[in-house]
Amino acid sequence: MITERKSTQKSTRKSTQTGSSLSLRGITKRFGSLLAVDDLSVTIPKGSFFALLGPSGCGKTTTLRMVAGLEEPDSGEIRLSGLDITHTRPHKRPVNTVFQSYALFPHLDIFENVAFGLRRRGHKKVQSAVMDALNLVELPHLARRRPGQLSGGQQQRIALARAIVNQPQVLLLDEPMGALDLKLRRQMQLELKRIQTEVGITFLHVTHDQEEAMTMADTVAVMNRGRIEQLGTPTDLYESPATTFVANFLGQSNLLPGLRAGDLGRDLMVDVHGNKLRVPRSRVRSQDNALLVGVRPEKIRLCATAEFIPENCNRLTGGVVLDVSFAGVSTQYVVRMPWRQDLTVFSQNLGVGERFPAGSTVTVAWEPEHTFGLPRDPIGDGPNHARADSRGS
Ligand SMILES: Nc1ncnc2c1ncn2[C@@H]1O[C@H](COP(=O)(O)OP(=O)(O)OP(=O)(O)O)[C@@H](O)[C@H]1O
Ligand SMILES: [Mg+2]
Repeated sequence: MITERKSTQKSTRKSTQTGSSLSLRGITKRFGSLLAVDDLSVTIPKGSFFALLGPSGCGKTTTLRMVAGLEEPDSGEIRLSGLDITHTRPHKRPVNTVFQSYALFPHLDIFENVAFGLRRRGHKKVQSAVMDALNLVELPHLARRRPGQLSGGQQQRIALARAIVNQPQVLLLDEPMGALDLKLRRQMQLELKRIQTEVGITFLHVTHDQEEAMTMADTVAVMNRGRIEQLGTPTDLYESPATTFVANFLGQSNLLPGLRAGDLGRDLMVDVHGNKLRVPRSRVRSQDNALLVGVRPEKIRLCATAEFIPENCNRLTGGVVLDVSFAGVSTQYVVRMPWRQDLTVFSQNLGVGERFPAGSTVTVAWEPEHTFGLPRDPIGDGPNHARADSRGS
């Protein structure tokens, strides 16, 4: 569904005329002994809505600041539309930033806040450009108010209008919705997506909120420890994570340690504690004999017995329901396997089908096509210990 929506948007947006591709090559930035950005390379196509997603401290803001010219890389190159801007002064770059703190001028009214960049560059006639920008964010009626008389969400839109009025080639957004409450945040995400589609400027959006990145961006780059672990469409990243870090940072995953046990042509056979599981070869990200078999919690179903499970389904018997949490649209089960590993299962509340109280013995089953294979983590399976050699998609 996500893919369909994206392709429709692509065909209607003005992207190719107004945006510009941004390319980072081998960018490294240290602060003393701390490696904040580690040999990072990425190309952001013009007109795209690109999200940099990662946990706190992984180097997102530092990357953005280097693109804006507020920080200089120790090595590497930044190009915009083919032009090297690595050492160009910030105000000479066709780039604007919207920060988490909107940084509006409190003593200027909204109109003058939006007009600021244009006036500074010597534009005399600003009326229509400012009103166009205010119309875009649907707040033309607030032109004569001061920032202090606006709500957080309104200030956020004005900050956006103030950046867009300058017609930058790239708009950098650093957690622009961080100050908003959850409901307003979700509403603004849709707004921001609409605005990006209308103006067609390249948006580089930084966030640690996976839902925000996935709902808005065409392409998401998952960052960890100063590097990009995986890059792709939200669907690709979710359905086919390449590392344990991505598998756990984007939603939840059940990761079962297993050993290669045979070749079934299209599928690989993997032995997990004596159970033979099928993993599509195209979804296996490791050459090693030992690997992790992954499956998302909502892809698993629970059965009282194995007898009605179709022949070629992946299945694990002997699970015991440890915990049941009802969450409205779904029920979350924690199932303990005989080897003392706990699996998470989300079961949609369709109003039909069996329920499994704590203590029930169950078989868990899922389609082989929903299975993925990851390299085993040499340190642990935690999100902060993804293997260095498993990066990239
Ligand atoms: N000016 C600085 N001096 C020293 N260390 C810095 C400086 N700026 C950032 N760092 C460090 O570099 C690392 C990356 O910081 P950065 O601000 O890029 O993270 P981030 O991904 O934006 O995190 P968050 O989600 O918390 O905003 C952090 O460990 C941070 O403490
Ligand atoms: Mg940051």
